[in-house]
Amino acid sequence: MLESRSREHVEHRVRAGVLEQGTVDLLIAAGVGQRLQREGMRHEGIELRFGGRGHRIDLSALTGGRAITVYGQQEVVKDLIDAAVSAGGQILFDVADVSVHDFDTRAPRVRFRRDGADQELHCDVIAGTDGFHGVCRTAIPAGALTALERTYPFAWLGILAAAPPSHDELIYAYHERGFALFSMRSSEITRLYLQVDPDETVGNWSDASIWRELHRRLETDDGWTLNEGAVLEKGITPMRSFVVEPMQFGRLFLAGDAAHIVPPTGAKGMNLAVADVSVLSRALVAFFRTGQQELLDAYSATCLARVWRAEHFSWWMTSMLHRFPESDAFQHKLQRSQLDYVVSSQAAAASLAENYAGLPLP
Ligand code: PHB
Repeated sequence: MLESRSREHVEHRVRAGVLEQGTVDLLIAAGVGQRLQREGMRHEGIELRFGGRGHRIDLSALTGGRAITVYGQQEVVKDLIDAAVSAGGQILFDVADVSVHDFDTRAPRVRFRRDGADQELHCDVIAGTDGFHGVCRTAIPAGALTALERTYPFAWLGILAAAPPSHDELIYAYHERGFALFSMRSSEITRLYLQVDPDETVGNWSDASIWRELHRRLETDDGWTLNEGAVLEKGITPMRSFVVEPMQFGRLFLAGDAAHIVPPTGAKGMNLAVADVSVLSRALVAFFRTGQQELLDAYSATCLARVWRAEHFSWWMTSMLHRFPESDAFQHKLQRSQLDYVVSSQAAAASLAENYAGLPLP
C-alpha cells in the first residue's frame, strides 16, 4: 500500500461520517469493528426539515431494522491501518511521484520515490484507490474509459464545532435561503453544512455569519434552536456527480473516488468505496487461490450496478433539498410537493429509507 500523505495526516483528515448498515456489518465481519461498535453512534432515523417543521423518517421501521452509524471516516482509516499493520501488512506513507505502468500486461509496475530514492514495485494487479485527483484513472489511455458527469450550481460550506449536538439525529433542511445539514461526530462535536455559491471561499464567511445563516435555515417554528460552539474546522466541499465506465483497464482496477464521485447529500461516498473494495477483495482472493479470473472480469459490472443506484439517489436527494439559482416558483412548488410526499407516504418514505440505510452489499 502506497500513501502519498503521512499517517498522521490521513488519520486526522475530516471527511464523511455516515456508515450504511452493510458497511457496518462488513467492517465487523472483517474484524475491524470493535471500536466502531463501542464509539459509533447508531441512528435509526433522520429528519427532513422544511416549512418551519421537522418530519422524521424512521429508517429502521421502514427497512426491517436497518440503521446508519455516525463514525468519522478518519476513524475507519485509523482502524484499517491498525489492522493492516498488526497483520504484518506494509503501508508506505509519504511516498512521492507515484506512477503506474504496464497494467495492460501481466506484469504491471508502480514507480515512486521514498526518502529521496526511486523505487519500483512489481505487481500482479494494481488497485487504484487514489481518489478523484489520483494518478491511476488518468494513466488509462484516452478513449478506453467513458466519463459521465453532472456539476451542480452550488457547494457546501462545512464546519466542525465544539458544541453538543442539539438533536440526536441528522437533519436535512430545505429552506428558501438554501440547504442546510445538521450532523455530529460525538456528544461534544457538531458537524454542520450550508449550501453556498460554487465560487465561495471560507475567507468570505466569518464564524458569526456562518452561525447566523445556520440558525435561519435550521430553526423551526416550535422554538428548536441550534447549540453554538468554537469553530474547529471550516471547509468548502464541491458538488459533483461523476462515473467512469468501465472501472477497470487490464490489471488496473479503480475503486472509490478514483472511479466515481457522488454529491454528499446522500452520504454515500465512503460506503461506495467500501462496497467496491469488498467486491475487489473477493475477486482477488479467488484469483490468487485458484487462478480464476471470472470475478475480476465481472468487477466493473458488479460495482457499477450499485454505483448507479447511489448516483441516482444522491442526485435525487440533492435536487430535492437545494435551491437552484435559476429556479422559479414552479420549481419551488415541485420540490415542496416532493418533500410533502416523502414525509406523508409510507411507500415514498420507505424508498428513501431503503436507499439511505443502504441496499445489501453484493
Ligand atoms: C457528515 O456528518 O459529515 C455528513 C452527514 C450526512 C451527509 C453528508 C455529510 O449527507
